[in-house]
Amino acid sequence: MCGIVGYVGPRDCSDVLIEALTKLEYRGYDSAGIAVFENGRIKVAKSKGRLTDLVEKMNKEGKPKGHAGIGHTRWATHGEPSDVNSHPHSGRRVTIVHNGIIENYKEIKQFLIDNDRTEFLSDTDTEVVAQLLDFYYDGDPVRCIRRVLHEIRGSFALGIVFADRPETVYAVRCESPLIVGQGKGEVFIASDVPAIIKYTKDYYLLDHKEIAVLRNGTVQFCSLHGRIIEKELLTADWDEDSAEKGGYPHFMIKEIHEQPTAVKTTITPRIENGLPDLSECGITPETLRGFKNIFIVACGTAMHAGMVGKYVIEKLARVSVTVDIASEFRYRDPLIDENDLVIIISQSGETADSKAVLSLVKQRNAKTLAVVNVKGSSIAREADMVIYTHAGPEIAVASTKAYMVQLSVMYLLAFEMAFAKGRISEEECRRLTLELVRVPDIIDQTIKRIENVCRYVSTKLITADSLLYIGRGLDYALSMEGSLKLKEISYIHSESYAAGELKHGTISLITEGMPVIAVATQNSLFEKTLSNIKEVKARGAMTIVICDQKADIDFDVANYIVRIPRISEMLMPMIATVPMQLLAYYTSVNKGNDVDKPRNLAKSVTVE
Ligand code: F6R
Repeated sequence: MCGIVGYVGPRDCSDVLIEALTKLEYRGYDSAGIAVFENGRIKVAKSKGRLTDLVEKMNKEGKPKGHAGIGHTRWATHGEPSDVNSHPHSGRRVTIVHNGIIENYKEIKQFLIDNDRTEFLSDTDTEVVAQLLDFYYDGDPVRCIRRVLHEIRGSFALGIVFADRPETVYAVRCESPLIVGQGKGEVFIASDVPAIIKYTKDYYLLDHKEIAVLRNGTVQFCSLHGRIIEKELLTADWDEDSAEKGGYPHFMIKEIHEQPTAVKTTITPRIENGLPDLSECGITPETLRGFKNIFIVACGTAMHAGMVGKYVIEKLARVSVTVDIASEFRYRDPLIDENDLVIIISQSGETADSKAVLSLVKQRNAKTLAVVNVKGSSIAREADMVIYTHAGPEIAVASTKAYMVQLSVMYLLAFEMAFAKGRISEEECRRLTLELVRVPDIIDQTIKRIENVCRYVSTKLITADSLLYIGRGLDYALSMEGSLKLKEISYIHSESYAAGELKHGTISLITEGMPVIAVATQNSLFEKTLSNIKEVKARGAMTIVICDQKADIDFDVANYIVRIPRISEMLMPMIATVPMQLLAYYTSVNKGNDVDKPRNLAKSVTVE
């Protein structure tokens, strides 16, 4: 989604804004722009396309020169991507950048038109806010922002400059994320920490409807009611290198390689004397014994991690788990009460639909547990309990390491819950935990062993228009993620299917040469999946089978076999994820796609 940055300090502001926006490119965008105070006047430069297009335009037309300003990468919602719809947008004395959606912008626009404000250049909701700010501006910027906050509805973050307040940047947020970075004699605003990490690791989290005033290298915060507030200065626990490619051609492949470390960092602090211990997250055995039903609600990849969680928790802890897509769950009046636990999984912690589900279930008094990667994000702050995954920053739009650490948390939870409920013995819990502890090394070996195989097999996929991912049980849960990963970055249509369900309709899609990727890592279901692979092979499919080293399968059934190390079948998803990620990655690379920034997608979906 859109990225916001702002700067006040001694450096060349345009350079800082462009550099910071580059670090937010992963969020997805289709145009970019900046506004900088140059000799006391606001100078705007903006352009449709990539940041390089903006830089090229500024090189031709003159780069704004100054020391305070705001910048933006836009992911179009209201109005097509174009120069004129790009941010910043201005009223007569106010210029703003905006992330999010203003729900009542039509009414506000009508109000402005009724009051003789008719100069709208763009189709955006943002310009309406700029005009509204201008309409109420009486020389007191904070009072004007507070007034406007009472009138606009939606989820948004704004960076604002007032023409008669040079060298000052104002910022405010409502739902959409925004941080304020504090460097030595310089201050920043940004939608996310990677934007400013080159300059400072210290930052403040702006809370709902708080206003920040950045001036003279410092920041002052005030509430919606105009009260000055003190905020805690936080320090990011990762450095600039974590937000760089570190020699890899893409963030996605770097992040795939980071998985062993990410899993280790996530599980190690949650294991005490060989047993899972989630007490630092506010979760005790008593808590885990107390629920009737569990709901796991999330979007996309995070929801797929929940699917694996369902199989594992139900199998071990014998509690009913329902997994749901947040955008559906929030509107279906779910049957939830105080006896239920709702687990929200989210890498960003800012996904609009997942946030809405959290508020909904809290109103119904369910206990809530967030599994979140971004510290201090909205979902993490609002849930009753939080288990942070420690994947570090995930920059590639296609999620890999965040999914892997979400899986590791699902296992820890399942083990601790099963033990707390007396469903498994202490000895069994220790055995499972020990096996989980060994998983990071096996992921590492797997990547090394199969990367070239996957690179080769992916060359067989690039001409496909459509393919199927099939599996049974945990392999089916996993194939949902494999299929999503492949389609989102390779642009090849792909569907995941429960292998046993094929012959109830979908098998009619199989034509000569159509790729079918079968995940067959569950020993207890292997023979059944094998029959399904034979069925599609007999109808002309090109079969690619992901199975363990000892699986009894030949090239008469599989055109290509990707063999991975065997561990206990319950933990196989953490290993089998690797070939699925690598197949998706190399297919995208081989097709010449923009792997880290697939078309039409944004990293953090902060609007509905
Ligand atoms: C796909 C992907 C998305 C996200 C989804 C939820 O690779 O990354 O499907 O998983 O948008 O995002 P979070 O986890 O931030 O709530």
